[in-house]
Amino acid sequence: MNRPAMVLVEQDPQARALLRERIAAVCPPEIEVIGASAAEEALGVLYTLREAGRSIEMVIAAQRIPGIPGGRFLEIVSSQFPGVIKILLSDRPSLDEAIYAFNNAGLDKYIPMPWDAEDVKFTVTTLLRQREMKRMNERLLVDLKTRNEQLTVAMSDLQQARHDLESSYIQTVESLAVALEAKDRYTSGHSQRVARFARLIARGLGLPKEEVDTVGQVALLHDIGKIGMLDKILNKPANLTPEEREAIKSHPVVGAQILAPVKTFEKHLAGIKHHHEMYDGSGYPDRLKGKGIPLEARIVTLADAFDAMTSTRPYRVGLPLEFAMLEMKKMSGSQFCPDCVDAFIRVLQSSGVMEADLLGAPAQAPAAPPGFAAPVAAGALPPDVDVPAGFVAPSDVAMPPLRLGGAIAPATGGAAAPVDGGGAGAGTPAGGAPGDAADPGRRQGDRS
Ligand SMILES: [Fe+2]
Repeated sequence: MNRPAMVLVEQDPQARALLRERIAAVCPPEIEVIGASAAEEALGVLYTLREAGRSIEMVIAAQRIPGIPGGRFLEIVSSQFPGVIKILLSDRPSLDEAIYAFNNAGLDKYIPMPWDAEDVKFTVTTLLRQREMKRMNERLLVDLKTRNEQLTVAMSDLQQARHDLESSYIQTVESLAVALEAKDRYTSGHSQRVARFARLIARGLGLPKEEVDTVGQVALLHDIGKIGMLDKILNKPANLTPEEREAIKSHPVVGAQILAPVKTFEKHLAGIKHHHEMYDGSGYPDRLKGKGIPLEARIVTLADAFDAMTSTRPYRVGLPLEFAMLEMKKMSGSQFCPDCVDAFIRVLQSSGVMEADLLGAPAQAPAAPPGFAAPVAAGALPPDVDVPAGFVAPSDVAMPPLRLGGAIAPATGGAAAPVDGGGAGAGTPAGGAPGDAADPGRRQGDRS
């Protein structure tokens, strides 16, 4: 039986019996009150109780007991049985004795002799209640700590599950984006390059990392709406009909509709839907204007056009960086957001940035499909290329390589690097480019 116990040390049998009776009357019934006549006997009882695994609630000792005085006995109890309540009964307390007992024995209470029954009752019940409350608090703290640990683990598992789910969604859509580029010879590799450029612009604007990441993801997915479009339209090597052009122009809205059901892409929708808006309000689908165009969209529009101008395609060679920068400046405030243009040009002109970020972009392009007339006279752009209006590509296929931040980038060889699904062709002269290259007023992005 593991009943908790209390030990009472009093030399006089009658006084011990009377005191034991009083204490037992106020103790919870499960506590056994054990009497002892001397310190040595009491220590023997205490060791036996501990070996039996029984809880020792309290030790009450008279100062006058055989052998070791009560104060010294309780000092030993304090060292050998920490946490036990200790009460000293003394008929001739001196100040020195009292101070010594409290300091060294860790007394919880001193009761003067002759003891008063009510005083003993009140002291014992109060100390036992305090002890129970302390234990209850300790149990609550342990329980709270356990629950906090369980909650932390659950939150971590939930976050991991959410992260895994989001990663799965993102990978799925990125796979769709890759599949899209595989079916559109104009845009192969384009999205990844636009994502790199868009991130550079976003960093140049001083956006925090989280927003830079979002901009990069928007850029990667900006043309996802073309996934459902017919290959014969996307790859049409001739001018588009008005109906076909309208179909292509629906891709920003279609892309937003594809991603709308997934909460993960909530913050990407506006950038995707409006990546063909123009700063002067002449874009689509909603003819938004200026800062009314979501910042992500303004960034992607510029990155999209930049890739369209600088990447090599089957029908032309990418333009020099200096030329692209001039075109961006020229169209700043009309086609492009001036803040974005300024930020991008600062990045492009900074040393050490472009080699790592631009040259690292995937540049491999698919071979021109059979029957595709390449290279054609440079300057002919497919109808989906949002090159700035007025843009005229040089006609010499053997153009100098793209120069990046002072470094010389190797020219993309042979098969052209894919063009970002960018905008409508700029005012490029007719030159055999597929689609509506002969439309001089068109800007990049019609197909992209
Ligand atoms: Fe597009």
